[in-house]
Amino acid sequence: MTPADITLIRSSFALVQPIAPQAAALFYDNLFAADPQLRPLFQGSMAHQGERLMTMIASAVGLLDRPDALLPVLRNLGARHVGYGVLPRHYDTVGAALLKTLGQGLGEAFTPATHDAWAALYGVVSRSMQEGAQTPPQLERLAVVA
Ligand code: HEM
Repeated sequence: MTPADITLIRSSFALVQPIAPQAAALFYDNLFAADPQLRPLFQGSMAHQGERLMTMIASAVGLLDRPDALLPVLRNLGARHVGYGVLPRHYDTVGAALLKTLGQGLGEAFTPATHDAWAALYGVVSRSMQEGAQTPPQLERLAVVA
């Protein structure tokens, strides 16, 4: 990801943040329309889940220029996702739903360069999460031993 990508992501995410609950709801509508089999994986309240998703995207966006801090968080997140029943192929479905939602939410502000910057970010996030999915998180391993 280039510094220009990071600037585009931050400025476009700032436009989405005031409508975060609606953007999250639209994202899950898009996701379940793309693959209805994903719906049963989500067992909690979708409003709460939407909040957690937007908070996590916001921290990733905030830490973009500090990969040393961001990558361990993403690897742990990916490891927890194994326990939610998430499979590697689901990452592409989620990425497509995310880009579609950003396009709907941002309208004309979703320029080709902004699209490409988000696609690059999602590539980093999903690769790091899937790397983490290969290794159980440290704390969970300790908890199992205890
Ligand atoms: C950009 C990638 C993703 C991010 C930032 C993300 C973020 C999160 C966060 C913050 C949570 C809250 C629980 C926790 O922190 O462990 C969560 C839970 C969950 N995520 Fe993700 N996720 C991503 C990708 C995916 C994918 C690809 C799937 C596949 C369908 C998925 C399905 C789930 C499920 C099923 C839960 C648990 C929901 C529940 O407790 O009912 N996520 N996700």
